[in-house]
Amino acid sequence: MNYQDSRKLQPGKLVVASHNPGKVKEVAALLGPHGIEPVSAGSLGLPEPDETGTTFAANAELKALLAADLSGMPAIADDSGLCVEALGLEPGIFSARWAGPDKDFGLAMRLVEEHLERAGPEAGRNAHFMCALAVAWPDGHLEAFEGRVDGTLVWPPRGNGGFGYDPMFVPNGYDQTFGEMDPDEKHRISHRAMAFEKLKAALL
Ligand code: IMP
Repeated sequence: MNYQDSRKLQPGKLVVASHNPGKVKEVAALLGPHGIEPVSAGSLGLPEPDETGTTFAANAELKALLAADLSGMPAIADDSGLCVEALGLEPGIFSARWAGPDKDFGLAMRLVEEHLERAGPEAGRNAHFMCALAVAWPDGHLEAFEGRVDGTLVWPPRGNGGFGYDPMFVPNGYDQTFGEMDPDEKHRISHRAMAFEKLKAALL
């Protein structure tokens, strides 16, 4: 990774290395006002690489590098997940996989709760969401940023908003879960918001 000559994002096209339309929209909302025009990797027919990294940053970087290399344009990718202290920071980079092939986050949350109960009350219920963002250029230059939000896990899950593990996560300083919270409020304090703030400060 080369952080020595940090680089700015110029107005123009930015490939979003994801096949998730929600992520493309999010980049459009955050970076569109700065003249950045997101293009989805799906619309360019780019493949989705296996997430073989052992950290959030490594996975974001490998996705951004491949998309930049194949498209010849700068590319952005993210990787995120829930890290539970009592579980040795699992599910971590495997957060999506804990939901199984049907992407059943009711199941994933139950699994987390079962593991917490097995760990016992003294292990505590602290957890954090992590988000890594990486921007890569076709010449292999990389810039990466991480955001984190700390909180505790509740059971049973509460609220229908958000996605993934939101209904069992209460951020520190709040009473509501991410699933109960007004979406604008979540987007203001989330791990993803923190990572984007750092990215904007460095690259725009
Ligand atoms: P990714 O799309 O590979 O980054 O997978 C991230 C997974 O982590 C998602 O499928 C969710 O399970 C979990 N996750 C990441 N961010 C959040 C969040 O803000 N709320 C709830 N779950 C999240």
